[in-house]
Amino acid sequence: MTSTTEAIHNADSTAGSGQLHDPSVRGFASDNYSGVHPEILSALAMANGGHQVSYGEDVYTARLQEVMEQQFGPGIECFPVFNGTGANVLSLQSLLPRWGAVICASTAHINMDENGAPERVGGIKLLQVPTDDGKLTPELIDREAWGWGDEHRAQPLAVSITQTTELGTCYTPEEVRAIAGHAHAKGMKLHMDGARLANAAAYLGVPLREFTRDAGVDILSFGGTKNGMLFGEVVVALNPEAADGLKFLRKMNMQLASKMRFISAQFIALLEDGLWLRSAAHANAMAARLRTAVEAIDGVEPTQATQSNGVFAILPEGIADRLRKSFAFYDWDAARREVRWMCSFDTTEDDIDAFVAGIKRELDSV
Ligand SMILES: Cc1ncc(COP(=O)(O)O)c(C=O)c1O
Repeated sequence: MTSTTEAIHNADSTAGSGQLHDPSVRGFASDNYSGVHPEILSALAMANGGHQVSYGEDVYTARLQEVMEQQFGPGIECFPVFNGTGANVLSLQSLLPRWGAVICASTAHINMDENGAPERVGGIKLLQVPTDDGKLTPELIDREAWGWGDEHRAQPLAVSITQTTELGTCYTPEEVRAIAGHAHAKGMKLHMDGARLANAAAYLGVPLREFTRDAGVDILSFGGTKNGMLFGEVVVALNPEAADGLKFLRKMNMQLASKMRFISAQFIALLEDGLWLRSAAHANAMAARLRTAVEAIDGVEPTQATQSNGVFAILPEGIADRLRKSFAFYDWDAARREVRWMCSFDTTEDDIDAFVAGIKRELDSV
């Protein structure tokens, strides 16, 4: 184990007697199944005690603005929120009038996994486009970018892309720039769902701003939860002129935390000395280890490029259910027998090796 993962797992053993679960058990179901990174827990304890002004007027939220400016440059505006769905709904609402619509990939979290919140809570029509790999392109966007001025059609006024995508793939800075240029030329704004933004930066090896603000993204949902935080995301208005009313919409959308200092303190701990990138790079490395191992196994058929912390593959009939008796993971597309395996900041090499041995064992026993 590396020293970081040792620290993570040693922290497990300090748990008190009320513990109801076995902290040595880790699976591949979701990066949300993992716990909280010990450095984040320390930051929460450090921010505790005494009184601070509520609703974001605290010293940690002020500091977070500075820390985010170090990543994205001056002139941005930060709005910490509770969760990713809230960040997305808030971001999109701020970009659009009541008659606005958003073009997104059909696999986008906003389309598949938010129980219609953008439509129901945000009042926003989603115009979905099927893709092979979760990534939009200018050509794919054009399938739905039409009908401006026609009162019978919800007006396509924004595009939303996910980085990294729900299929584990990653947009290059050039690809984001091409989408932003195309969207802007047609009078549309660009939102990025960055629930796994850190994994993208780790994969691309470039600063965050290179594939966000500098590439033309107007507003960003910046994820913290999947990267070792207890909870919390930040809506970052990279181009504040494109976003209207964020301050009011956050409260209306029930995303204004009274004790905001604890979201901000976590993000500061994540960003200030590189924990965000170390954790994401580790999760990506574990996925790469898994990918390399399964590529050598007859019967496992990877379906997507592994460009972040997830591996997607098709397994022979019955194998997934048998494997799931020992390791948690989800079907991605059950009809195709496609599964998704996610790695986290706390996944170890031993976890991967045990899982790979388990896959081989199940396949050999067929
Ligand atoms: C791409 C993407 N966006 C956003 C989210 C945030 O969701 P939540 O509202 O559960 O925090 C997730 C979580 O699964 C996600 O995968």
